Amino acid sequence: MNVARKSGTRKEIRETPSKMFYNILFLLLVSYRATQALENGLARTPPMGWMHWERYRCITDCKNYPNECISENLFKRTTDLLVSEGYAAAGYEYVIIDDCWLEKSRDNVTNKLVEDRYRFPSGLNHLADYIHNSGLKFGLYQDYGTHTCAGYPGVINHMALDAQTFAEWDVDYVKLDGCYADTATMDAGYPEFGRLLNKTGRPMIYSCSWPVYQEYEGKIPDYEALKQHCNLWRNYDDIDDSFESVAKIMDYFSKNQDRIQPHGGPGHWNDPDMLILGNYGLSYDQSKLQMAVWAILAAPLIMSNDLATVRPEIKAILQNRDVIAVNQDPLGIQGRRILIQKNIEVWARPIMPRNAAGDYSYAVAFVSRRTDGAPYPISFNLKEIGLRSQRGYDVFNLYDKTEQLGLYKSLDSFYTRIIPNGVNFYKFTVLGSPNRY
Ligand code: GLA
Repeated sequence: MNVARKSGTRKEIRETPSKMFYNILFLLLVSYRATQALENGLARTPPMGWMHWERYRCITDCKNYPNECISENLFKRTTDLLVSEGYAAAGYEYVIIDDCWLEKSRDNVTNKLVEDRYRFPSGLNHLADYIHNSGLKFGLYQDYGTHTCAGYPGVINHMALDAQTFAEWDVDYVKLDGCYADTATMDAGYPEFGRLLNKTGRPMIYSCSWPVYQEYEGKIPDYEALKQHCNLWRNYDDIDDSFESVAKIMDYFSKNQDRIQPHGGPGHWNDPDMLILGNYGLSYDQSKLQMAVWAILAAPLIMSNDLATVRPEIKAILQNRDVIAVNQDPLGIQGRRILIQKNIEVWARPIMPRNAAGDYSYAVAFVSRRTDGAPYPISFNLKEIGLRSQRGYDVFNLYDKTEQLGLYKSLDSFYTRIIPNGVNFYKFTVLGSPNRY
């Protein structure tokens, strides 16, 4: 959500007395139910998939941009490419329509949401079938407020009807944005929509944008409530197509990690926004960097790119099984930025396997924020970066599979050289675990 949109949101929340009365009534009506948890059993590991927003935004002109407009055609082509290019086999599963899929008004008889009839001529059930028949799952965007961020109808006065419509359309994943809404009602309203989704009986992952709108108003989100009611949630700004944007998100997540990191886990994830690999803004090494940090953060891996034009070396990063395994680690512990030295950041995440003493293995990303030329040499004592097992660790380079770096004990110092705006990403497998003695 950009600043303009934010002020748009603010404009919407100036309340008239009758609106205030409605809000209070609404809060009373839903708050007694808000203690009921989502408990849909979904997203035990961070969801993986594809969503159109970062790459395609709100292109609706299919006459001039037939291959780029938000249309049935785009999602069918992407579904095909997810399968034929190997992304589906690597775990990318959800095909998610973001904003700009609706007609500007609801059906005037039934009040139901209506997909844009020109751009989705066969209807959403047809598209859902197409996606399901390819072995993938179907996601859809909506907004908690009166309008979506791009100005299409939102759910606020039609929550039960819309939840039911999503179930009828065979939706598997719902992203509920928070433009043009009163943030004061979100603590009750978002759980209510989750409850209505659950009530349909159809399992749907529930992605909430509730915390980011609260953060914008200087309010600390209630993470315990988020964990109870949402499978994932957007914490911060929209990602744009630049390294600057990736870095800004990384900075937000690390500076606020004490209050954010503990809340990620199986069934409930912090979401730093989409992967932008394969677009215009990131170099090859910056692409490795985003993928590594998103793996450490246990972030949903939702790509937004044109799968037809992703270069082979970028595709190899997106499909790197070892990096994906870090992201999808079953313990689901979100990693942290452990330290910064000379503008080199060390990010680490405890992962499987564990050994008999209970020590974890770790994924460790050495991230350079330097821009001064040559690869920068640096060494760290393992203990200093949190790797304390007495047994030691086998070290493996996750991006260069041929590089097995050998055995390191916790007092050993680990030396590496990182190129500007690059990453070296390693797995430290603890000794004494079932497959490492
Ligand atoms: C907000 C969200 C984005 C995207 C757009 C669509 O800005 O944060 O991810 O969904 O709305 O309008």
